[in-house]
Amino acid sequence: MAPESARWRRFVDAFEAVVGMAGYELVIPPLLEDIGVFTRLGEATDVVTKEMYDFVDKGERHIALRPEQTASICRSFVQHRPITPFKAWYSGPNFRYEKPQRGRYRQFDQVGVEVLGSLDPYVDIEVVQLGWSFLASLGLTKVELAINSLGEPDDRARYVDALNAYFLQRINELSVESQQTLARNPLRVLDSKRGEDAAVIADAPLINSFWSEAAAIHFETVCEGLTAVGVPYTVDLKLVRGLDYYRGTTFEFRGGTLDSAQNALGGGGRYDGLVADLGGPETPGVGFAIGLDRTLLACDDEGVFSASDQSADVFVVDVCGGRAALEICTQLRASGIRTERSWDGRSMKAQMKAANRSGARFAVIVGEDEHRTETAVIRDLRSDADQVSVSRSELMSSLNSRLSSLQGAE
Ligand code: HAM
Repeated sequence: MAPESARWRRFVDAFEAVVGMAGYELVIPPLLEDIGVFTRLGEATDVVTKEMYDFVDKGERHIALRPEQTASICRSFVQHRPITPFKAWYSGPNFRYEKPQRGRYRQFDQVGVEVLGSLDPYVDIEVVQLGWSFLASLGLTKVELAINSLGEPDDRARYVDALNAYFLQRINELSVESQQTLARNPLRVLDSKRGEDAAVIADAPLINSFWSEAAAIHFETVCEGLTAVGVPYTVDLKLVRGLDYYRGTTFEFRGGTLDSAQNALGGGGRYDGLVADLGGPETPGVGFAIGLDRTLLACDDEGVFSASDQSADVFVVDVCGGRAALEICTQLRASGIRTERSWDGRSMKAQMKAANRSGARFAVIVGEDEHRTETAVIRDLRSDADQVSVSRSELMSSLNSRLSSLQGAE
């Protein structure tokens, strides 16, 4: 609802302004997909196994409400085969059956980008830089960027084996929840925020010992590029993300003011195998998504990107049937003056009350006298200045000059 709804719209507009500068084009993925599009995200992914809203439709198709949009973008890439590199941005709601709390909801909005068709580390840099620039454009200053590389698929597999062996050795020291996570996905144990797991996680092997030379060079290029363009980051060798499709570069934007379980404002990385998993040609991909709901909470905490005043400029009060208000509203709106009115032939008192409540700066009043003499009264609703009477033909220019002198004074 307003004014928050307008703030949401501005959030997406601000994102479009940043990514549009880099030539990304809007894709509007469907809310519903065949469940197979998402099950490819991995059996070890909670988002898929535990949190998906899925159902069988009237045609016996197994359908899911999208829990994220990367898989849908890849599915539509496979279907339409656009020219690569394919640079897409998107926004909209996603659905996950999670335990709702501040910053974690069952329906939440994201904005994001995906680039398909290039292995160049400069794509990784551009993508991270876009996310960073967008968050900065909102006025956020307490965001931290964490970055890591999961290496090439073989590196990652060897690392997962090593982690598994290490955690199995110390399994009795892990929380029951982490013991269960270990059976499904040893990488995700690193993500545990439970105090009892901290000591075991602290001594766990690190991914960088498993990087191939190519993976190490790729990561170094990404880090150097970010430094070159002034994007500050911390290398976090234990950064793993909730979705299972990542390879190589992974990153997360963390809000400095939020509770640590919900402090990821956004994140992303490379998912070079996903398009092929969805039946397309081998096509590398990299992107990120930023959560709108959570990022606006961070904006509230930092006192930036606040909801703006959506009030009208003018409220027309007409006690002579409403025809004059119709004409005045039409004329003023066409010239760019935000104008409201009331209906139902209400009394002068009731209409003035509505005018004051609307937040409009000026009331334009047409009473019996004004109706007869083709005039209108302009009253400033936020000052004690005397009201003035103007002819209907001068009304628009008079209001325009008042509104622009107010703007000049701001
Ligand atoms: P994700 O980390 O699952 O990544 O979600 C990205 C962001 O969406 C989170 O950082 C958070 O701000 C927001 N988010 C996720 N779940 C919730 C929730 N239940 N309530 C509120 N906000 C939430 C992805 O979705 C990947 N598709 C990102 C990506 C794009 N990777 C590559 N390309």
